[in-house]
Amino acid sequence: MTTTAPVSVARRLRRWPARLDFLQSATGLALGLFMWVHMIFVATILLGKDAMWTVARMFEGYFIFGRPVYGLVSALVATVATLFVVHAALALRKFPTNYRQYRTYRDHSKEMRHEDTTLWYWQVVTGFALFFMASVHLYIMLTRPDRIGPFESADRVWTDLMWPLYLVMLFAVEFHGGVGLYRLALKWGWFEGDGSDAAGTRRKLRFFKWALTGFFLVLGLLTLAAYMKIGIEHAPFYGQHYVPSAIGATGVAP
Ligand code: HEM
Repeated sequence: MTTTAPVSVARRLRRWPARLDFLQSATGLALGLFMWVHMIFVATILLGKDAMWTVARMFEGYFIFGRPVYGLVSALVATVATLFVVHAALALRKFPTNYRQYRTYRDHSKEMRHEDTTLWYWQVVTGFALFFMASVHLYIMLTRPDRIGPFESADRVWTDLMWPLYLVMLFAVEFHGGVGLYRLALKWGWFEGDGSDAAGTRRKLRFFKWALTGFFLVLGLLTLAAYMKIGIEHAPFYGQHYVPSAIGATGVAP
């Protein structure tokens, strides 16, 4: 009787690393999928200013309530920011905590020359960079949800000088997210079939991962270029909101 309590405590403690790992995977998956959807929505600027304006207003509930409800956008950003903080906090467990640990890892990695080990290293580096870069972006989205739109976003990208941050962050997030989802698929055995050809599955997943990363990088660069071009043209009218031609004609501003 006297030994059961410590044993059950020990058993419970042993489960925590697995639980934390699962939570890190789940938050990573949610963030990775969010990033793809996010990129598609942001890229609607390539279809025209009206298309991006419509998407931005949709998130504000404009077409349901007849007026923008910015709290909806802030709530979405707060949810993503929470996922981001939880994911980053859990990732801290995996970082080398001193120079000796770092050296041991680098020496092993160089000796092995295994692509997935090298990918893991760059995932840690890009993850660390995202701590800072994504926080800046999320804070602005949280506090200024009223300034999301074709002119508003372009003004921020160009006149407010966000483009250097977005450029670096684009590469960091696409690499980090792509490797993260690839590692999740390997770890949990998704797309493995009957498991008889593990090396073949890994090869196919790697190809798919680089293809997706390449696609989203090209889409992101084209999108950023589009915002920069609009931002340059709109610089003399900085701060002016975009009003679609259909609404402009009726005089009902959003
Ligand atoms: C719900 C939260 C988010 C919202 C509402 C949001 C919204 C936007 C918007 C409207 C833009 C266009 C430029 C602008 O208006 O400043 C943009 C660009 C961008 N966002 Fe987000 N974002 C969110 C979260 C994130 C997160 C978590 C990341 C990465 C960790 C991220 C990475 C980027 C990048 C890299 C760009 C530039 C894309 C490009 O090159 O075209 N965003 N975001």
